[in-house]
Parts: sequence; C-alpha cells; structure tokens
Amino acid sequence: MRTPLIAGNWKMFTTASEATTWARALLEDLASDPVRGVDLALHVPFTHLAPLAPILRDTAVALGAQDVSAHAEGAHTGEVSAAMLKDVGTRTVVVGHSERRADHGESDELVLAKAAAVMAADMVPVVCVGELEAERAAGRHEDVVVAQLRGSLAGLSPARADQLVVAYEPVWAIGTGRTATAADAQAMCALTRQVLHELFGETGTAVRVLYGGSVKPGNAAELFAQADIDGGLVGGASLDRDSYLAIARAARSNA
Ligand code: PGA
Repeated sequence: MRTPLIAGNWKMFTTASEATTWARALLEDLASDPVRGVDLALHVPFTHLAPLAPILRDTAVALGAQDVSAHAEGAHTGEVSAAMLKDVGTRTVVVGHSERRADHGESDELVLAKAAAVMAADMVPVVCVGELEAERAAGRHEDVVVAQLRGSLAGLSPARADQLVVAYEPVWAIGTGRTATAADAQAMCALTRQVLHELFGETGTAVRVLYGGSVKPGNAAELFAQADIDGGLVGGASLDRDSYLAIARAARSNA
C-alpha cells in the first residue's frame, strides 16, 4: 500500500515572507481539517528554505527544494549542495525537472548524479521524467521515458521505497492547462513502475510514482484513482492554498 504524496512545486514564484505567511495559514487549515493518509511536500525556492524550516519542522508537510548541485562542495558559483539543503531542514529535492532539463541542458547523467547526492545526504529525490509533445506525436513517448528512467535512476540503491519518488510529467502538459487523460497518465505511470521493478526489484514496485502536468482540483480525483498514480507533482495549482488542499483531499479519498 503506497501512501499518496501531493508535492507542490512553487517554481520561481513568491517571496520568502509571502511563503512563511502561506505556510502558517496552511498549517492552521490542516489543524482544523487534517488530510490524513496523504503525505504533503512543498518544493520552494532556495531562499525560502531556512525561513520555512522552523515553521514546517515536525509537521505533516515536508520541506522541499527544487534543485541541488551534484558536487559535494567546491568552486561552483551559484550552486547549492545537498549537505547545505539537509542542514537547513530540507527533506525532499526535485531533480531533473523538465524546466531544468530544457533551460539548463541537464542530462540524464547529471540528474542521476544529483539524485545520488540527495540520497547520500539522507533526503528523498523526486526524479522527474516526461516526453516532449513532438516525441508523443511521433509515438516515441514510451521509448523516451524508459530511456530517461534508466539514465536517471540506474545505479541508485534505495534500501527502502520511501527513499525515492519518481514523477512522470509530460512536458506538453506542464503549465499549459492540458492534462494527460487519466488513461494515458496511468499507462505511463504503469510503464514507469515496470522500469522501477527492473532496476530495483520489489523495492522499486513500492516506490511512489507521481503524475505532474496541470493537475487541478477538477481533475485530481480521476488521476489519483488510477492504479499506478500515487499522487501529484503540482505546479501552478499548489500556489493557491485552497486548490493545493483540494488536490490533497482528492488523494485522500482515493487512498
Ligand atoms: P503545473 O506544473 O502543475 O503548473 O503544470 C507541474 C510541474 O512543473 O511540476
């Protein structure tokens, strides 16, 4: 039985002071109406981590970062290491988001090194994969995603399934309002699970596979009802507290 995870991805939105007000209000909402049986995480800009850490410590909401350096330390101007993230209370780290793959040319090899750095620092990587629109139109989406999964995950060694999360996010659905159909999302998440089994055996089967790409309160329940979708990586809709909570509650009703 996999506990659903609703992981917000705030991208480059909000200031740290807005985020602390937001997080306090979220915890008040959760105190009056808890979302039981669902894990929550928020992946925020680096500047927000330290101010959010004392607010989210020992709560149901895991503090997350959106990227990390593959290097342990050194002359890497502008980079932030896994140890630095861990030190301020980060619990999960998104790696290989399609915006980083596209904007910063991140390869599967680099994503793998980042995921390994996150795991070595005892945090959870949320490893993202997903095909471009042209790849789907050409019928290559399965091959592309399988290759990304193997390239970004092979060699990691999670001792437990809760040490790794994978997010399938078709690039054409991110921030566009065009969600994959529940059936297509399910098919790709089932394929992802097969590759996880191939790579990690039974541990892989228990790894949570999230769907991402225009998840909203109106489509969340149908997506999360699919057998191989264990929650969502939610961008735009996670910035609005009511819609983030509505999406989390949609996961609870399918848990
Ligand atoms: P979106 O973003 O929900 O705004 O489509 C998802 C993501 O980029 O993780």
